Amino acid sequence: MEIRTDFLVIGSGIAGLSFALKAAKLGTVSLVTKREKRESATFYAQGGIASVLSAEDSFEAHVKDTLEAGAGLCHPDIVEMVVKDGPNRIRELMELGASFTKRTVNNNEELDLGKEGGHSKRRIVHAQDMTGREIEEAVLKAVAAEKNITVYENHIAVDLLTHSKFIEKTDEDICWGAYILDKKTGGVHTFLANATILATGGAGKVYLFTSNPDIATGDGVAIAYRAGAHIANMEFIQFHPTCLYHSKAKSFLISEAVRGEGGILRLKDGTPFMANYHPMKDLAPRDIVARAIDFELKKSGADCVYLDITDKDPAFIKTRFPNIYEKCLSFGFDMTKEPIPVVPAAHYTCGGVLANDYGESSIKRLFAIGETACTGLHGANRLASNSLLEALVFANRACLKAAELVAKDAAIPRIPAWQTGGAVNSDEAVIISQNWDEVRRFMWNYVGIARSNKRLDRAHRRIENLRAEINEYYWNFTVTSDLLELRNIATVAELIIRCAMLRKESRGLHYNIDYPETDDKNWKRDTII
Ligand code: SIN
Repeated sequence: MEIRTDFLVIGSGIAGLSFALKAAKLGTVSLVTKREKRESATFYAQGGIASVLSAEDSFEAHVKDTLEAGAGLCHPDIVEMVVKDGPNRIRELMELGASFTKRTVNNNEELDLGKEGGHSKRRIVHAQDMTGREIEEAVLKAVAAEKNITVYENHIAVDLLTHSKFIEKTDEDICWGAYILDKKTGGVHTFLANATILATGGAGKVYLFTSNPDIATGDGVAIAYRAGAHIANMEFIQFHPTCLYHSKAKSFLISEAVRGEGGILRLKDGTPFMANYHPMKDLAPRDIVARAIDFELKKSGADCVYLDITDKDPAFIKTRFPNIYEKCLSFGFDMTKEPIPVVPAAHYTCGGVLANDYGESSIKRLFAIGETACTGLHGANRLASNSLLEALVFANRACLKAAELVAKDAAIPRIPAWQTGGAVNSDEAVIISQNWDEVRRFMWNYVGIARSNKRLDRAHRRIENLRAEINEYYWNFTVTSDLLELRNIATVAELIIRCAMLRKESRGLHYNIDYPETDDKNWKRDTII
């Protein structure tokens, strides 16, 4: 089947949905998402959106905190633009019906602003500890009312349709859409578009332990890379310091807001330790807290550290963190009475498809927004709750640029339908699960919080073998969603390893024990491949 559309949006988190909503005023939108539409990292976001909304705060302070967390690699012009646009985007969400937690001060109701690591002021807009769900549902409701948007659930992108591959080689390549697999029928459809927007989220599933939902397989980065787009800063994988330590909890996130409200990290014997690592103690930037925990665990051989908020009134804990409280209770931990066991887990991909200040990639008509993109906002370490903000700001800006493409109405060339060649159904699906486990395990052990040249070399050798095996499998057997995701996580793993091998220093989230110092003279720059 061939589908023609003005805008092809891949991904249904806040970036993809808010782009679609705006683009629908300008033309037809096909929104493709690989599971049901609300299944996205946005939906599970707990903390909130960082924005300057109080008289005690200032744009300068938010910019300064972002630059400091980013360890010298943020692009200051992008940081300033995003921070200043924040309040407009929050207002827009509220107009759509998103309802954020309020508090009453002197008989006036105002937003209850939270605090998280690396922030010098209270500036996190939140809906208790379920901010993502509140936003996702509000925006999905608006999307459902738009007749110009068609949502394709259970559809996953296979590859991008580029001018160089299908029409003729050009110096500046152009994207004309994507091949998309319908997971239910197994058919691969040709989606032709004036503008293609990658909003597929991050790649936490590359690691054995992650706070991310199962969909986070780095699809956008992998397909953009295969199409020849520039990719940047993939070595900067953020590990969230506090995920629940329990074999069945799937690294359930314990929001940084818990530390923002007074939670303290302790060793098993009750000793607090963050003062030994940073003057901001438990609210130091995330890279520092995660590395401190990793160091303490390696030193003592313990399985976890503990997060203690028992000093707070139980009623406050239950009202501020109802979701976290219930989840911990379901695993036998009452956070109002006892410290909860926590460990770090992969949480956020700071690098991604290199994108300019309008979300444009290095391929014409191809945009990347949200966690899929590397815009220069996060640098070497993202400041907490700056990610939903980035997604909203860049969805808005990408739409301004994509609108120009649709207005010019270029003739989309003819692209051949998907060819299955001699591919047959696989009789050995075990290869997929074996390779999937293998990638995630060696990425955790060799390319995790602390890296070394030897570990990176080992990981590189393994990923080369695995990618060859996966490619052979891809060409011989009928494509399935599992195979596409495996191919994508293997591609992204390779990109992370290659970027980490290139950076011969330690900075932000990238820590290599063979180069423990930051080297501003040689490495204060993005890694671009
Ligand atoms: C959290 O709630 O701790 C996560 C917020 C974020 O990743 O920005």
